[in-house]
Amino acid sequence: MSYKIPLFDLNYGEEEEKAVIDTLRSKWISTGPRCDEFEKLFAESLDAKYALTVSNCTVSLHLALRLLGIKDDDEVIVPSLTFVASVNAIKYVNAKPVFCDIQSYEDINISPEAIEQAITPKTKAIIVVHFGGFPCDMEKIMGIAQKHNLKIIEDACHGPLSEYQGKKLGTFGDISCFSFFSNKNLSTGEGGMLVTNNEEYYNKAKLLRSHGMTSLSFERSKGHTTVYDVLEFGYNYRLDDIRASIGIVQLKKLKSDLDKRALLREKYIECLENIEQIIIPFKNHSAFVSNYIFPIVLKDSTAEKRDLLRAKLQEDGIQTSIHYPAAHRFSIYKDLQCNLPNTEYVADNEITLPMFGKVTVGEIEYIVASIKKHIQNKI
Ligand SMILES: Cc1ncc(COP(=O)(O)O)c(C=O)c1O
Repeated sequence: MSYKIPLFDLNYGEEEEKAVIDTLRSKWISTGPRCDEFEKLFAESLDAKYALTVSNCTVSLHLALRLLGIKDDDEVIVPSLTFVASVNAIKYVNAKPVFCDIQSYEDINISPEAIEQAITPKTKAIIVVHFGGFPCDMEKIMGIAQKHNLKIIEDACHGPLSEYQGKKLGTFGDISCFSFFSNKNLSTGEGGMLVTNNEEYYNKAKLLRSHGMTSLSFERSKGHTTVYDVLEFGYNYRLDDIRASIGIVQLKKLKSDLDKRALLREKYIECLENIEQIIIPFKNHSAFVSNYIFPIVLKDSTAEKRDLLRAKLQEDGIQTSIHYPAAHRFSIYKDLQCNLPNTEYVADNEITLPMFGKVTVGEIEYIVASIKKHIQNKI
């Protein structure tokens, strides 16, 4: 189905096409100089020491857990209101996910109080997810981590260039992970980045990304080295230079795209804030954020009413989504005990509205008029 207003649209142009053609013509299309350049620029954009391209964020999370030594029977705290990859990665290293509730219907990030209550002698790490690019309460969470000697992984998929206390998200934890999946702020189709300020983690991540081998094929092809050893039980988690060349162009466009999104968010808030039945999460947040998505939560509602409203919006040509079905309710996690009332309410009553740089003010007015009409008609 084609929508009048899609949830997301790529901002690709001639620059991305040219970058791909140039890379194809260079005849080096797997991991090589474009990946190196993308890593350097991405690290600079965050003011982080090291960035390493990887095939996607899911493998970045897996690497992060391996680098931090998380293993069988360790417990890792994670929100349930996230994409399931943040949780599955914990199972990749045979550790146990421990789900935590979000703060409230307004602040839909993981609750520091819930984190503290979930800690046991087996807890080794916390994965925070900055929902929509809005920062978790890192001051409190880092204090808890320090007190209990826990590692922090930032799942910063939604938050490239988002700021917290004057620093970029992705520079607070021991390791952070970004996604460049096609609907993300920075899109390469598939792709991801592992970011850290720790040289040891970076060097080991580089090994693990490529089978544990001491040299990459690009280095060997250039005659920098002819032999290699295998030091670790690694993987093929590399990105290729075709995608990296798109990433370089996308990174250059990122700030201006986020500036447009910030204006759209203001317009959404202006139009929605007087609708009594709607909660706008993070409404009063003022620091610079990526606005990866624009979520609303329906007040005094149910999943059935929410789904009906989404169906009505679809009839009006507006594409919406849900972020997220709660991970702890998925069949594979049903055996993990948890009581997450805020997460369950938001998972049942959240609607994600269209958000990307090309949305117009007129389109936002149309979306909000459609919401108002259906809410007044008691859906
Ligand atoms: C919060 C979060 N974590 C992890 C991922 C996984 O990213 P990728 O698709 O790059 O593996 C996503 C992607 O949607 C995400 O939104």
